[in-house]
Amino acid sequence: MNAPILVTGGTGTLGRLVVPLLRDAGHPVRVLSRRGGRPADGVEHVTADLLTGAGVDPAVRGVGTVLHLAGGPKGDDVATRHLVDAARRADVRHLAFISVVGADRVPLAWLRSKRDAERAVAGSGVPWTTLRAAQFHDLTLTMVEKMAKLPVVPVPGGLRLQPVDAREVAVRMVELALGAPAGLVPELAGPRVYGLDELVTGYLTAVGRRRLRLPVRLPGRAGRAYRNGDNLTRPGATLGVRTWEAFLAERLPQPAVEARGGAA
Ligand SMILES: NC(=O)c1ccc[n+]([C@@H]2O[C@H](COP(=O)([O-])OP(=O)(O)OC[C@H]3O[C@@H](n4cnc5c(N)ncnc54)[C@H](OP(=O)(O)O)[C@@H]3O)[C@@H](O)[C@H]2O)c1
Repeated sequence: MNAPILVTGGTGTLGRLVVPLLRDAGHPVRVLSRRGGRPADGVEHVTADLLTGAGVDPAVRGVGTVLHLAGGPKGDDVATRHLVDAARRADVRHLAFISVVGADRVPLAWLRSKRDAERAVAGSGVPWTTLRAAQFHDLTLTMVEKMAKLPVVPVPGGLRLQPVDAREVAVRMVELALGAPAGLVPELAGPRVYGLDELVTGYLTAVGRRRLRLPVRLPGRAGRAYRNGDNLTRPGATLGVRTWEAFLAERLPQPAVEARGGAA
């Protein structure tokens, strides 16, 4: 039997898409998360907390490749350091890490912690690959859904996003993890850049709702970085093909769309 591939965060949005692709490629998979999950054919679950380090050493033992997809709003640097230390001790041969486009340029605390996590991976002594991906469609939808619940939607001027389909990120991560360690590879984003206002409008149109918009200005250095497009890809990035509009049409309940007499 092959050594299992460890997928940290294998129960999350991205991880749930990655695990079946690894299984289809014939690899046994070990999933690491805090809450665990239901075992399936060729998939075992282990519980560990990357933030404290509890349970991480046994989770990594006997593993050749690690896909590090676990993440949260805080502490990805600390969590990643615990993982890379355990990976080094376990002689892991390849650590593939998902980061975020703009981690090196946007001065926000969670992106700085992603940047520090990238550094921990690169300095780990374990052969590595890091892919910076843009915001997933799923997270973009969660964000605009929350915004659209407000009676007046604040729309930060100049804020643009290039959302990407998580399924395309999953395919790329698996390809990278099963290939040779490649260091920092070209970023991956969606096919188009949208103003936040456009994303909100697309959503409101799709669900047949109207809202007043209030233009606001993002303050500080982070605001400047966003207006400057530092959260967008650099030339040379790989672009996915699935659009935000196609994602919305697929994800939103059809009755809402049909009631308006058309597609999203
Ligand atoms: N979402 C995006 O738009 C986006 C874009 C670019 C990059 N990324 C990066 O891609 C990765 C996956 O994102 P996602 O949207 O799939 O995240 P998600 O849906 O929030 O899933 C996070 C996963 O990590 C696990 N996890 C969180 N904290 C943990 C801890 N302390 N110890 C062990 N496991 C932990 C969670 O399981 P438990 O809660 O059970 O522990 C879950 O399996 C993250 O690193 C994220 O920063 C995301």
